[in-house]
Amino acid sequence: MIKRYNNLTAFLFITIFLVSYLGLNAAENQVNIIPAPLSVKTMKGSFTINNTTKLIVGTNDQQAMQVALFFGDRINAVSPVTLTPVNQPENSKLTNCIVFSLVKDATLGDEGYRLNVDKKRVTIEAANPKGLFYAVQTLFQLLPPQIMSPAKIEGIVLKMQAVKIMDKPRFSYRGMHLDVGRHFMPVDFVKQYIDLLAMFKMNTFHWHLTEDQGWRIEIKKYPKLATISSMRAETVVGHAGANSTYDGIPHGGYYTQDEIRDVVAYAAKRFITIIPEIEMPGHSLAVLATYPQFSCTGGPFKVGTTFGVFNDIFCAGNDSTFVFLQDVLDEVMALFPSKYIHIGGDEAPKARWKLCPKCQARMKAEGLKDEAELQSYFIKRIEKYVVSKGRKIIGWDEILDGGLAPEATVMSWRGTAGGIAAAKQKHDVIMSDNGHLYFDHYQADPTTEPLAIGGYLPLRMVYDYEPIPAELTADEATHIIGAQAQIWTEYLKTPADVQYMLLPRLFALSEIDWTSKEQKNWYDFRNRLDNSIQRLAIMGLNYSQGNEKVDVSAKAMKGGKYLMLNLESERPNMIVHYNLDGNLVTPGSSVASKPIKVKSTAKLYSAVFIEGQLKDKMINRLVEPHLAAYTEAMVLRTDRPGAKPVSMPGLIDGFCGTTDSDQVTWNTIQGKENQITIDLKKTVSPKEIALHCMTIKDREFVMPSSVEIQVSQDNKDYTSVKTFKNDATDPITSTTTKDFSTAVKSLKARYVRLVIKAESKTARDPRMMIDEVIVK
Ligand code: ACM
Ligand code: ZN
Repeated sequence: MIKRYNNLTAFLFITIFLVSYLGLNAAENQVNIIPAPLSVKTMKGSFTINNTTKLIVGTNDQQAMQVALFFGDRINAVSPVTLTPVNQPENSKLTNCIVFSLVKDATLGDEGYRLNVDKKRVTIEAANPKGLFYAVQTLFQLLPPQIMSPAKIEGIVLKMQAVKIMDKPRFSYRGMHLDVGRHFMPVDFVKQYIDLLAMFKMNTFHWHLTEDQGWRIEIKKYPKLATISSMRAETVVGHAGANSTYDGIPHGGYYTQDEIRDVVAYAAKRFITIIPEIEMPGHSLAVLATYPQFSCTGGPFKVGTTFGVFNDIFCAGNDSTFVFLQDVLDEVMALFPSKYIHIGGDEAPKARWKLCPKCQARMKAEGLKDEAELQSYFIKRIEKYVVSKGRKIIGWDEILDGGLAPEATVMSWRGTAGGIAAAKQKHDVIMSDNGHLYFDHYQADPTTEPLAIGGYLPLRMVYDYEPIPAELTADEATHIIGAQAQIWTEYLKTPADVQYMLLPRLFALSEIDWTSKEQKNWYDFRNRLDNSIQRLAIMGLNYSQGNEKVDVSAKAMKGGKYLMLNLESERPNMIVHYNLDGNLVTPGSSVASKPIKVKSTAKLYSAVFIEGQLKDKMINRLVEPHLAAYTEAMVLRTDRPGAKPVSMPGLIDGFCGTTDSDQVTWNTIQGKENQITIDLKKTVSPKEIALHCMTIKDREFVMPSSVEIQVSQDNKDYTSVKTFKNDATDPITSTTTKDFSTAVKSLKARYVRLVIKAESKTARDPRMMIDEVIVK
């Protein structure tokens, strides 16, 4: 007995030893750098910074010295160690030192670096101080997460895993945008935002400074922009709609020119270029409120208190508008040394220009055939001015309409089409795709998240974004200079709200922009996440834990006979529970360890439990297998000449919405007449065709006034199956769902088309919430 006991003890001892040895060391050796470097080789041993470690700058370069100081400052702030950089020639025999060197090495490029950490020393080489700075960010990530602490930590061990790293970015433009027009963000927060971008090796901050709801930059020649245009009387509560209420609280703020200079210098120390955006000709209501003479109608106007796209924009027929904008740009260019100046160009309705005698006279005088060409004239005229000052313009992809200005760089935000068109015309492009890079969208199921503008953009959807569209040749692809994510602040009132939307999605953006396509790997990224997330926590930031919740997706099998439902959390080691019978989940419910087969309508509930506690709210979905699931749905606005069909996969994703309007499953369709065409990919004999719709009480989402169901074999000749007239067109009474559904018999269909008409009681185009075209 005793012997056996001893054996068992020895066995347990060895096991524990092995587990802790291997386990601990595996964890210690794990290098968790985000964005993933080009190459990382983990070596034996480690280097620990102590009181006798020397910080050596082996070059006379002032900026290199600044980078070393930047590194030393962080170490000194958090630990009992004091590191003071000294300028002395590199001597490879010296030990217990961290050496910064500038070297001539074309393989490193403008921003690359080489980093060696061994037991004796740390060596950093780059061709430019920028590269040294990115090496410093990597060093921080090799140190424990506590290195980011705002307060001193007496017991901190400044130990780094021994590594050999060679690193450089994939793209030269790595951008993050912030809208301070909808909600003003204080200077200290803007600096913190810049710090976060630098931490993840981003190099461009796009500062969106002017909006309908507020002008945010002091212009000496037009002081009323700061005193009047920067202030709105109040703000709409929740999502804007017909019956909206307003908070009655004035909101405003602007940056003085001194503050701007300070922020620009702060960013430059972190190798971040700030690109200012001055919006034109649209999104300019705040200017017009003060200077109505720059509008078409003469006003009067108020600084915007609700959100959306407004008809009152700068008048293009009025020369004084251009004088004003050039004066503003003069001051802006004096403050911001960036090569690029962003001039907006997006969402400028032409309603006023169509009726304005001055705009019409301009079109006639310049031989412009329509208002799109007038917008092009506007942008080209401004571009000419900006180029005459040695700068270049960037505009949102609407600047393609009516002809691109000769040297403009395009931000492709309405998907990829604008980017593809611009790159084919040999213009540089920044991919800013609103399907993958709009960080104002929800990052988990909207029913479990704080109010946002809409959309659904979990971490993985960001991560999986590929900025170079497949449609481009290798030559055209060189015009894609990088990707940028956007944060619009309609529904983000505070710095904490912005932090939440930025983090941790910024991590994924940094890998899109920095990490080579070959090195990018979602599962590897997922394993590196925790280390950087710990840093956010230590820094006291508000970050989303949406990636711990359930992400629901599905695949159609056997032509939609059944769905394979995938319930996964984006974070490793989360246990996802589910029920398909409409019952709420408990920690005892089934575990979704692999895809689940769903053969008929099911009511899904799903949730993650952490230590038996429900993680946030449960997800619920109506799962609907049908023949059109995961085929192809195209939507065409037939009331708008020249409109192109857009793909809307959410209409056939096998998930139906409920009256909970923020459910991710609903799709917005806008316009008096639309055609939805489903390509079923093969001929079927359906028994039922249905369209599922919803009205929303406060948001002007209407029911269709009529729906015609048609079928076709060849996508040319369509046969009408049934037309519904909906008499309940008055939308603004309740939130209700409705099925336009018909049983069919002896019908063969490869294509199903729905012709949907709608009416609006307001000046706005009617909008509908539509979910799922069901073919059974
Ligand atoms: C934009 O989102 N209007 C560029
Ligand atoms: Zn006009």
